[in-house]
Amino acid sequence: MATSPPTTSATPDAAPAPRPGGGHGAEDRRPAGGRFTYAPAPEATDHLRLRDRYELFIDGQFRPPAAGEHRLSINPATEEPLAEVAEAGPEDVERAVAAAARAFRSWSRLPGGRRGRYLFRLARLIQERQRELAVVESLDGGKPIRESRDVDIPLVAQHFFYHAGWADKLDHAFPGAPWRPLGVCGQVIPWNFPLMMLAWKIAPALATGNTVVLKPAETTPLTALLFAELCQQAGLPDGVVNVVTGGGPVGAQLVRAPGVAKVAFTGSTAVGKEIQRALAGSGKRLSLELGGKAAHVVFDDAPMDQAVEGVINGIYFNQGHVCCAGSRLLLQESMAEPFLRRLTRRMARLRVGDPLDKNTDVGAINSREQLGRITELVASGVAQGARLYQPPCELPSRGFWFPPSLFTDVAPSHRIAREEIFGPVLAVLTFRTPAEAVERANNTRYGLSAGVWTQSGARILWMSQRMRAGVVWANTYNQFDAAAPFGGFRESGFGREGGVQGLAAYVERG
Ligand code: NAI
Ligand code: MG
Repeated sequence: MATSPPTTSATPDAAPAPRPGGGHGAEDRRPAGGRFTYAPAPEATDHLRLRDRYELFIDGQFRPPAAGEHRLSINPATEEPLAEVAEAGPEDVERAVAAAARAFRSWSRLPGGRRGRYLFRLARLIQERQRELAVVESLDGGKPIRESRDVDIPLVAQHFFYHAGWADKLDHAFPGAPWRPLGVCGQVIPWNFPLMMLAWKIAPALATGNTVVLKPAETTPLTALLFAELCQQAGLPDGVVNVVTGGGPVGAQLVRAPGVAKVAFTGSTAVGKEIQRALAGSGKRLSLELGGKAAHVVFDDAPMDQAVEGVINGIYFNQGHVCCAGSRLLLQESMAEPFLRRLTRRMARLRVGDPLDKNTDVGAINSREQLGRITELVASGVAQGARLYQPPCELPSRGFWFPPSLFTDVAPSHRIAREEIFGPVLAVLTFRTPAEAVERANNTRYGLSAGVWTQSGARILWMSQRMRAGVVWANTYNQFDAAAPFGGFRESGFGREGGVQGLAAYVERG
């Protein structure tokens, strides 16, 4: 098992707040409060049973890929290898789709209650093995164990329980007209919430009687392969779930495979557009959950300390590798300065380091490629004249790391205000009136999520009716629930996941 990097601690010392429009005044330089030291509290890894090599999961069995190729999945916090993982080729994808098509014949005819029983079994197995799943999720992808343990894995189990409950009640989900499952679903998922994205895709597909070929992201395949083991353990009929691992070309083959009736994709807008072009005219159903550049709007009547916590959670959760991250902070001008002072002070207390340390707030960047993208966009922000603030913070010497970052003096035309950075980087803009806040919030090609902080209920409703976003959180951020539909507008994609709306994406009606 790979060892973890030494924990580093952000220095919680004087963090001068950058001002939206001016220099640092002497009054800004106040000490950040007490200095806390923590003893490392690493999560144990001795209970893990990772194999050295994982094959493709096709028709209920782990099988080597036809070409015999494998690639390493590494721990991004240490750059050490975790396991070799099969690289699927066209033949393997075809075989997986054929297995799913065979399984569809009987799975789609099972009474809903029987399908529900399998889903309940999977949900319980996920709960039983939640500790192991959380540790592997953190090792393979770099996210803090506190998040994988307290957010990701519980939500994964919730999604299976929720959809298990629907399996025998689908006539109530779709009243008044007959419905039927679509067939084989080709599902391609990203690396930011590997097992959670698997759950969002697989649970509704199975509940409604479809079968699945899933392609996990190349940097984070391991929990999907552990899930494949759970499918075996649950006695799920062969071929109902298949997992083909590998890079982008494997995803491209899967979505184009003739036997696939429905494609569900979560990932970059560029790949989403490519898939949409490739599927045009094919008759395949498609849902896309793509990028975002969410506005997080704070009014001057908001409870300031809670709003600071919400903003921190909105952008630094999961290193900012979050499609719905609150990456554009819109502050009402009258309170921007005191707010930024508190925010930067709070940033200086974020602990960056070993993902397996239970004290860690910000873990490792998922890959060298992603670190490169973040670094390039942050450099563009500086070059375009925005002002960068990063708290003093010692980063481990190995692995991929980026300090919590904040930009002020941001113009709406700057790349950092327009493009998804997908890292721990916040761009701060200001506004004067609610109308201006709405205009700035909607000044984006995305439309996945938004946040608003104010004491006025009427203003929350006024804002949420006007902000073009699939989800608007009010006086909170990053809340997820299996019963709540999630999805975007414009270049954030289309289709909803979760709730009845999410089920509807997996059936034909009428
Ligand atoms: P990506 O879109 O290339 O990867 C997502 C998944 O799609 C992976 O499983 C990948 O193997 C697969 N894939 C890649 N090319 C494909 C193709 N031509 N056809 C079918 N599947 C394909 O995302 P990438 O390159 O890892 O990240 C780039 C940027 O995308 C990030 O910086 C971020 O801005 C955004 N992104 C957004 C996500 C979201 O949750 N909305 C998730 C991941 C990335
Ligand atoms: Mg990995």
